[in-house]
Amino acid sequence: MTDDQTRTGSSNGGVATAQESLTVTDNRTGETYEMPITEGTVKAMDFRQIKAAEGDFGLMTYDPAFTNTAHCRSDITYIDGSAGILEHRGYPIEQLCEQSTFLEVAYLLVHGALPKQNELDYWQYAITHHTYVHENIKKSMESFRYDAHPMAMLLSTVGALSSFYPQAKEIGDATERYMAVVRLIAKMPTLAAFAYRHQLGLPYVYPDNDLSYSGNFLSMLYKMTEVTYEPDPRLERALDVLWILHADHEQNCSTAAVRAVGSSQVDPYSALAAGVAALYGPLHGGANEAVLRMLDRIGTTDNVPAFLEGVKNREEKLMGFGHRVYKNYDPRARIIKKHVDEVLEATGGADNPKLAIAVELEQRALDDEYFTDRKLYPNVDYYSGLIYEALKIPTGMFTVMFAIPRTAGWLAQWLEMVGDEETKIARPRQIYSGERELDYTPIGDR
Ligand code: ACO
Repeated sequence: MTDDQTRTGSSNGGVATAQESLTVTDNRTGETYEMPITEGTVKAMDFRQIKAAEGDFGLMTYDPAFTNTAHCRSDITYIDGSAGILEHRGYPIEQLCEQSTFLEVAYLLVHGALPKQNELDYWQYAITHHTYVHENIKKSMESFRYDAHPMAMLLSTVGALSSFYPQAKEIGDATERYMAVVRLIAKMPTLAAFAYRHQLGLPYVYPDNDLSYSGNFLSMLYKMTEVTYEPDPRLERALDVLWILHADHEQNCSTAAVRAVGSSQVDPYSALAAGVAALYGPLHGGANEAVLRMLDRIGTTDNVPAFLEGVKNREEKLMGFGHRVYKNYDPRARIIKKHVDEVLEATGGADNPKLAIAVELEQRALDDEYFTDRKLYPNVDYYSGLIYEALKIPTGMFTVMFAIPRTAGWLAQWLEMVGDEETKIARPRQIYSGERELDYTPIGDR
């Protein structure tokens, strides 16, 4: 077990044996306590029994940013960062990208198993036939300023959906939960494409039910006067693969936000708006934009060695390299790389000088001990920006492109949270470090 690995359940069904326990001695009192270790974890609440004196609140654990706290049990996504493994419901990401589609992976995440043909057909039909949004949603998006950030538009519009589906607050009703899942997966590309067209001052394009999930999205982005938009199958497939890669990534900032807000039993539209808000932050989405800026600054492949020297002298960061969890080649980066050439060829950008710089930079960094010693490898964002740029997607839209597929992951996690008997409203503790028992000073005396 390493720091970068998702915990897996113990083979004894979580029952502690004599050896599977932790003995703690409180040196303040000399008392010794024994706590069970189950699934490689001790329960934080077991520490509460440790008290310095009668009436003491009991010991708490301090973990800002939850860096060593499992806040839930989950069957959805397994990551082993050291080995570069990512699995959804047990299926390796490589196989899903090779053989599946985004909608099938969304089904897998949400339902927990791969669909049979009739189940997949029904799922695809349901999603396809819920892509339209109420005209008032469209009007409310039209009312944003011409330069509104598309992520801000998405964030508020996902929240606004809650007012259009008030019955969604019946989260104990399986039909309502299912309808919210279908609606959110179906409408997210529509909202994203409306935000894109808004930025460009173009009329919004309504969904086309005859196209695939990604083909319809391309149509809503690019359709002009043609009667029917025909998506390039290479772009359709590349987008689908990108979306499979971004569908879920276990307990990151936005997923934890969805679970925490959802634990109040609010409706799923509101819980997902919290996820979109978290993703909007530059520390979560956004590194792919920084990669493009870096490649622009480097300018030509001749400048790559000097740039890398700058990184090693800590004057620069090699954007798109390194990951908190993956200490090996991010498996998603390897898959994206395969699609870059295809997309550039389809969009007529095969001679994009940034690609040559990115390849040269990666090669040299992988041959350099500075990077290999620190386990710095390309992450998912290293090549995704190049694909988005080739698709003429403005940088402000990059995080919106991430939110579309992550909706499936957020919903799977929300469903799991709602159905988990251990779920309680999220309510962390604090260490109070402020003043106490001050006397109020009248304003004139301060
Ligand atoms: N370029 C140069 N050096 C780096 C980089 C990098 N991209 N990333 C880490 N390092 C170095 C650090 O300086 C440090 O070196 P030191 O031990 O000599 O001081 C060592 O590698 C370890 O780095 P940490 O900061 O401890 O790694 P951490 O896991 O905290 O950081 C992070 C991970 C934030 C992703 C970092 O690698 C980074 O900033 N990368 C660039 C930004 C990026 O691509 N982010 C996208 C991540 S993927 C995603 O969010 C979807």
